Amino acid sequence: MKILVTGGAGYIGSHTCVQLLEHGMDVVVIDNLANSSEESLKRVQEISGRPLEFHKIDLLERAWLEALFRDHQFDAVIHFAGLKAVGESVQIPLSYYRNNISGTINLCETMANHNVKTIVFSSSATVYGEPEQVPITEEFPTAAYNPYGRTKLFIEEILKDLYNSDNAWNIVLLRYFNPVGAHKSGKIGEDPKGLPNNLMPFISQVAVGKLKELSVFGNDYSTPDGTGVRDYIHVVDLAIGHVKSLDKLLGKTGVHTYNLGTGRGYSVLEMIKAFEKVSGQRINFNIVDRRPGDIAECFADSTKALKELDWKTERDIDEMCADTWRWQSQNPDGYQ
Ligand code: NAD
Ligand code: WQD
Repeated sequence: MKILVTGGAGYIGSHTCVQLLEHGMDVVVIDNLANSSEESLKRVQEISGRPLEFHKIDLLERAWLEALFRDHQFDAVIHFAGLKAVGESVQIPLSYYRNNISGTINLCETMANHNVKTIVFSSSATVYGEPEQVPITEEFPTAAYNPYGRTKLFIEEILKDLYNSDNAWNIVLLRYFNPVGAHKSGKIGEDPKGLPNNLMPFISQVAVGKLKELSVFGNDYSTPDGTGVRDYIHVVDLAIGHVKSLDKLLGKTGVHTYNLGTGRGYSVLEMIKAFEKVSGQRINFNIVDRRPGDIAECFADSTKALKELDWKTERDIDEMCADTWRWQSQNPDGYQ
């Protein structure tokens, strides 16, 4: 089976490539390297002991996509490529809409031209906006409060319209909760450019001495310790979710939507404690104001993925922290 992975050099994409290769699939990656480096793919091949094919292609370059699809007969596409920084999306919304939405339209048009109609799309728990209750099931109403979130929501809607227009499509919408952790080998992991936006890479950069202290965004939420609660999911469990989606759903036309989370929330303070325990490092932190746009609590009901994909998470919070720490301490400057 031959899979095209867009954005495969990135954080979740690289971990998914390892799983696909280890499952005996042939993998072709395209990435414009806007937020990644080709080194991640070299290491993916080292870990899996199998080769993959890489092309530095931007999804906005339609002609290159057409050429790629002429050269390869793909069975499915896993579509990770996109810009993902919420704050940046508020500053440069048009870049986000062009890159994420136009990129996806180019991809789907090219797929249709070449009769490739299976796509697994990286959606996000952000499409639930501020949920009225937790845990969150796939039926919850959707909303988006920033341009990044709107790109995810719009793309979900575009893909549903595509299916409605042509029932031969097989569309899988995977709504990720908060991906963290790294591959056990310590060779691949999350390598944010500049100051990390997300909690886990921030904590690990404080632990390794690159950053002085973590700002905890608010301790007055209505959560057990007042800090924000999220459903952190190990990136390897998430990657396996993609392989299971292909295993179970290939050939089954329709639009299939799944939450990928653990079903358990951890607060910011719990995350700090867990990381200190496994790393033996002290994480200095300071409580500051809430970050605008943040919600109090968010965690998944992933029962549907268990029932239909036979998927559940297997890596706990200690493993998420230990694997992040191995990656960060062995690669203090990421892939540089
Ligand atoms: P990432 O930035 O590490 O990976 C995305 C990759 O896409 C990068 O390698 C980037 O260079 C590439 N890319 C971006 N625009 C492109 C374009 N026009 N053409 C070709 N390549 C392009 O991010 P990630 O954390 O691995 O996320 C992967 C996907 O999952 C994204 O769509 C993201 O929105 C989604 N997602 C991420 C999270 C998270 O917290 N990491 C949560 C939910 C959903
Ligand atoms: C987690 C918790 C913060 C940083 C974001 C996107 C979402 C999805 C995942 C892609 C919150 C707190 C964080 C810091 C802190 N991405 N925090 N200090 O906000 O749940 O989700 O990434 O789809 O769309 O919005 O993740 O890791 O930024 O924050 O106190 O320096 O950590 O307030 O409670 P979030 P996060």
